[in-house]
Amino acid sequence: MKTITIQTKNTTYQMGITDTGFLLHLYYGKKLNSECDMSYLLTYYDRGFSGNPYDAKDDRTFSMDVLPQEYPGYGNGDYRTTSINVQDINGVYGCDLRYCSHHFSDGKYSLPGMPAVYADISESQTLSVVLRDKASGIEVTLLYGILPAVDVITRAAIIKNIGTNEVILDKAYSGSLDFLNGNHDILHFHGRHGMERIMERNPVIHGVQSFGSKRGTSSHQHNPFVILAEKDTTEDYGNCYGMSLLYSGNFKCEIEKDQFNQTRIAMGILDEMFAYPLQPGETFETPEVAFIMSANGFTHLSHQYHELIRYHVCRGKYKIERRPVLINNWEATYFDFDGAKIVDIAKQASALGVEMLVLDDGWFGKRDSDNRGLGDWFVNEEKMGGPLAETVEKVNKLGMKFGLWIEPEMVSEDSDLYRAHSDWAFSIPGKKPVTSRNQFVLDFSRKEVVDHIVDQITKVIDSAHIEYIKMDMNRSICDVYSAVNGMQNYGKIMHQYVLGVYDFMERLLVRYPNILLEGCSGGGGRFDAGMLYYCPQIWCSDNTDAIERIKIQHGTSFGYPISTVGSHVSAVPNHQTGRTTKIKTRSTVAMAGSFGYELDLSLISEEEKQEVKHQILDYKKYWDLIHNGLYYRLHLPEEDRETAAWMFSSKDQTEGLLNVVTLDTHCNGPISYIKCKGLNENSQYIIEGKSQIYCGSALMSVGLPIPVMQGEYQALQLHFIEVK
Ligand code: GLA
Repeated sequence: MKTITIQTKNTTYQMGITDTGFLLHLYYGKKLNSECDMSYLLTYYDRGFSGNPYDAKDDRTFSMDVLPQEYPGYGNGDYRTTSINVQDINGVYGCDLRYCSHHFSDGKYSLPGMPAVYADISESQTLSVVLRDKASGIEVTLLYGILPAVDVITRAAIIKNIGTNEVILDKAYSGSLDFLNGNHDILHFHGRHGMERIMERNPVIHGVQSFGSKRGTSSHQHNPFVILAEKDTTEDYGNCYGMSLLYSGNFKCEIEKDQFNQTRIAMGILDEMFAYPLQPGETFETPEVAFIMSANGFTHLSHQYHELIRYHVCRGKYKIERRPVLINNWEATYFDFDGAKIVDIAKQASALGVEMLVLDDGWFGKRDSDNRGLGDWFVNEEKMGGPLAETVEKVNKLGMKFGLWIEPEMVSEDSDLYRAHSDWAFSIPGKKPVTSRNQFVLDFSRKEVVDHIVDQITKVIDSAHIEYIKMDMNRSICDVYSAVNGMQNYGKIMHQYVLGVYDFMERLLVRYPNILLEGCSGGGGRFDAGMLYYCPQIWCSDNTDAIERIKIQHGTSFGYPISTVGSHVSAVPNHQTGRTTKIKTRSTVAMAGSFGYELDLSLISEEEKQEVKHQILDYKKYWDLIHNGLYYRLHLPEEDRETAAWMFSSKDQTEGLLNVVTLDTHCNGPISYIKCKGLNENSQYIIEGKSQIYCGSALMSVGLPIPVMQGEYQALQLHFIEVK
């Protein structure tokens, strides 16, 4: 069998082409010698009810019902989860893709209008494999982007109608993986508003399990990042496979264990209600999925995703530069502020070392509550006490940058925009639309709508010295109908909507290359690798409770680097949970992210203000370690109810920052020992400010006793420094 092999630093991926032109998946796993031909893994038996392709002639042992494939469709005898479903004008399904050609080229492909992993030509390659089915009139170009140093293989597909009639794409996934054997678990990240990306690990069962979103965004409920792991995989041991979809709209991940205990995992745009018409000559490009395989457990897998997203997905000035420590007025004031109050917040914050003031919701139109005003992107000068530039100048004079909140995709029924263009909001004729937070969704699949919003918002940005934008999106989408384009097709519009959102952000970034764009969707309702191509950080959750945040940030860390996590110290009792924690605990948790504050500083004690000053200095001191170092999950919230612990270690192992938060308190209780990670086995370390010398090997294999701390939810940050 002819094989095509992809090699990365630590992994090998191999496919095979049969004599009859089927493109089989032969292997993905730990690196093998490039001469290895893995087709020996395939077995051939005459199996009942497993059909044979006509051109297999008398060979009843050759069946696509069992053979592993690269891009499975329906129509060649495979009845498992498909990646592509095509319907012709008569409603006939029958897609039988066969290999035509392939070639490797230097550099990584890009996907116009969509996010994609990028890399220098010298550090990446592209493999293109062309498949064709003359009968259904479909040509598929499978794209594989290869970044050997980070062990990344990306996948996307370009699907072209090469026939003479219209066809409908009912399903067009980005990629799939087949496993011939093995006992697997699936790790996925589920949640809700205020509790996003909670890790759940389940066995892969016979039948199909699926996760996804039909909310128009990637959603709070399921994240487009999953891990398939062999049963015995832990943080430091075992084979596991990550799939991260660079897409911010409807998606689905399906995991199937078949009749012969083989596993298939596939991911892409949600196929439910997806029906994408392709005229002769037209093409459809799927979004991209990034695969990483680790033969050494979850920690290594996460480190590779962190590296990938930090250096090959995020872009712009703040990809590398330290982000300013910010204060956001939302939880301090909600809608109840004016220009003077904002300057006052900035004054107090600048005295403590905060570097940027972010003016959140409520500065525009008649937005005095969340019932009205969205879409009217002009400054409420009465509320602000003059043009925005005046407030911004005052904040700048304090030595602080200024940032602004927007929610461009939305319109309130009570707004000038809606009164002028009610047809710009999604709404189905004859049906009253579903409202949420009393707002409607603008049809961003229409260019004139995006143009108008870009126009309005850039006028505001141009009017003042704005250096940061928080781009929010505060509801799930429903009632999808595009009034003008003659597009009543949900699937097509929802995809075009996502492209419209990407276009909006790209235009902002081209016009303001130095602006820091932070993503948000009611916190982390659109926290995905697609958004991170435009925004190097995303507000991780509307839940700012330090203890709940530990779980949220823990789940987030599996697929996303610390630098992407927007995280703030907020007031106590916490506004979402009513829980009280010390300001030290809140800052320890918030430092596992892009750090800031979100509270009324005039309400905290003098002692706490002094602490805030120190926290900011500490954050600046540790920033490089936190954002550019390696992150280790130590005590896992799903396993340990007593202590949560995580650690940052520098890549050269000369320092580490151990973070511990107690979750429970006892009389006369046992002692927790935390095993450090990421230090040098052969080095000695001291804890900054102390004289005791510790062996790196002992800290990692035996651990460090955590001193008994009285009171609930205590935090400890210990800075280990190598003794030369
Ligand atoms: C969302 C965001 C919050 C805040 C509000 C403003 O909920 O996640 O941080 O910006 O909107 O309305």
